[in-house]
Amino acid sequence: MLGTFSSSLRSTNFLTKFGGNNFSQLYRKMCDKPKVFVTRSDIPNDAIELLKTSCDVTVWNKLETVPINSLVENIKDKDALFCVLNDQISSQVLDKAPKLKVIGTMSVGYDHLDVDAIKKRNIRIGYTPNILSDATAELTVALLLTTSRRIIEANNAAKTGEWKSWAPVWMCGPGLKNKTVGLVGFGRIAQQVGRIIKSFNISKLIYFNRSERKSEACEIGAVRVDFDTLLKESDFVIVTCALAPETKGLFSTEAFKKMKPTAILINTSRGQVIDQDALVEALENKQIYGAGLDVMYPEPLPLSNPLLKLNNCVILPHIGSAAIETRQEMALITAQNILAVLNDKEMPAELKL
Ligand code: DGY
Repeated sequence: MLGTFSSSLRSTNFLTKFGGNNFSQLYRKMCDKPKVFVTRSDIPNDAIELLKTSCDVTVWNKLETVPINSLVENIKDKDALFCVLNDQISSQVLDKAPKLKVIGTMSVGYDHLDVDAIKKRNIRIGYTPNILSDATAELTVALLLTTSRRIIEANNAAKTGEWKSWAPVWMCGPGLKNKTVGLVGFGRIAQQVGRIIKSFNISKLIYFNRSERKSEACEIGAVRVDFDTLLKESDFVIVTCALAPETKGLFSTEAFKKMKPTAILINTSRGQVIDQDALVEALENKQIYGAGLDVMYPEPLPLSNPLLKLNNCVILPHIGSAAIETRQEMALITAQNILAVLNDKEMPAELKL
């Protein structure tokens, strides 16, 4: 019945008779919902439901990164793209999406987006800053303690029978008390790490950042230093800076040579900030004590990668923001960002280009 009504409504005769072109336009507007492509099938449901209230939503139906040809095929008629950090949005992809108005990435990092190409096409970008800072800071500190106090090795020893008795120097690792902690990058995540780490009675908190953040540094009690000083003085080096041309490969062979042999390096930003071959060498030669990585390249790291064979390296599968509530909020903000653009409203979190 509804189908019959709907098809007669669509017919020109009916529309002309009951309101003419205006009515016809209104009807078409009601039917032509904006189209959104979502690149993952495991996005928290509230976000998808929210999009569905006013959009025609297509969700990639596999639990794996959408291959480029499927991405291109799926976004050719879409107004909006809901993506994650695995999706490389290049100008070649954008060339195939002439209607695209907004890209909502469920991440704070945006190094997977060709920002210049997006800007050129007047496409807007929504992202998820702030909301993942606490979760990522939490994980950063957890990774630091896991690495320094050898928690994975100790857990394995307990499970495999290697644990024979309590032993005075077995499974020891460096403590934080009276140590110097160096933060590379001093954004919201680093500042929260700084606040937490201070409670471990460290002796000094130093940071290296492009710009001075006087009031935040003062509140936390952190001192700005140059990169070389940070490498030389830090017992723990924590990397949370964004990946940018000036931070790519920042941790090179030369950088590792300047670090203490007792130093521990933690990275929860992006893998490419560290030259991985140089890191393998530094860990193998005991140029540094250990490393804890939540990010690396490529992700996932191939099982043959030497980093996975080293006892003094802890590897996590990019779970910095993986607190349940945080991921739900990230998904929701991404959906809200998209809807805002489609409804000519201000985005909750727009990446200003
Ligand atoms: C981001 O949002 O960029 C993070 O890396 C995800 O954990």
